Amino acid sequence: MGKLEGKIAIITGAASGLGQGMAELFSAEGAKVVIADLQDEAGQELAGRLGGSYLHCDVTDPSSVEAMVQSAADRHGQIDILVNNAGIDGERANTAESSIENWQRVVSINMDGVYYGMKYVLPFMVSQKGGVILNIASTVGLNALGALPAYSASKAGVIHLSKSVAIEYAMHDIRVNAICPSVVETPLLKHFIENTPDPEGARSGLASLNPLPGMVTVDAVAKAALFLVSDDSSFITAVALPVDGGYTAR
Ligand SMILES: NC(=O)c1ccc[n+]([C@@H]2O[C@H](COP(=O)([O-])OP(=O)(O)OC[C@H]3O[C@@H](n4cnc5c(N)ncnc54)[C@H](O)[C@@H]3O)[C@@H](O)[C@H]2O)c1
Repeated sequence: MGKLEGKIAIITGAASGLGQGMAELFSAEGAKVVIADLQDEAGQELAGRLGGSYLHCDVTDPSSVEAMVQSAADRHGQIDILVNNAGIDGERANTAESSIENWQRVVSINMDGVYYGMKYVLPFMVSQKGGVILNIASTVGLNALGALPAYSASKAGVIHLSKSVAIEYAMHDIRVNAICPSVVETPLLKHFIENTPDPEGARSGLASLNPLPGMVTVDAVAKAALFLVSDDSSFITAVALPVDGGYTAR
């Protein structure tokens, strides 16, 4: 028996990177995964390969998130797990030079999207008498980084929002946690590195950022996520778990 046998898991931003890794692992553990993303072709290909389903969803649009959650519930009859994973790093610039458009775009995907996901899934979980929510934050939400003001603020917001919702819904047997990865090789990190003044230097700096050698792997984050969405963590809620090789201990 897999750890998620019979569970229905929605994962936003699952057409790529960490979301894809979680979708593959959750599916291997018996879950039926609902991939919610903007990248229709990649999302449909992954859903087909995993025997799950794909729903087009823009997490910045509350009506799109509401419709996605309703479709998942109509199709599967239940929603056991929601992973709010969709996110972007945005532009790299100090606050005075940064654009208002970037601030609004990053906050709207990384933080508003997490709020909408929880807002629309919680009534289903309350009526089912339980559920698990996992929000993908970042070590940047714990230890701020310069030149990424919107990203830093949005990820710190996700951590506090997760704790707040965990307290509100604990009485309904709904657990809410966050994961804080440091640097993981995904398209998002590639974008981040390419936007630094010295991409080669940035790459080697990031590879030696964590006390443990190398960058965090998608697999390491997916396994931590599996722990937090499975019954193995049945009495754990309101935590922000770093998956960072010791980075935030410094
Ligand atoms: N890669 C890292 O080093 C790292 C570190 C810490 C946290 N994270 C977080 O992990 C999460 C996943 O990032 P990743 O590295 O896998 O990036 P990624 O770029 O590989 O994947 C992000 C996914 O989100 C989707 N997405 C973007 N905007 C969306 C929207 N408006 N609606 C729906 N889907 C949308 C994209 O289409 C993509 O499939 C993000 O929240 C990111 O901030 C990543």
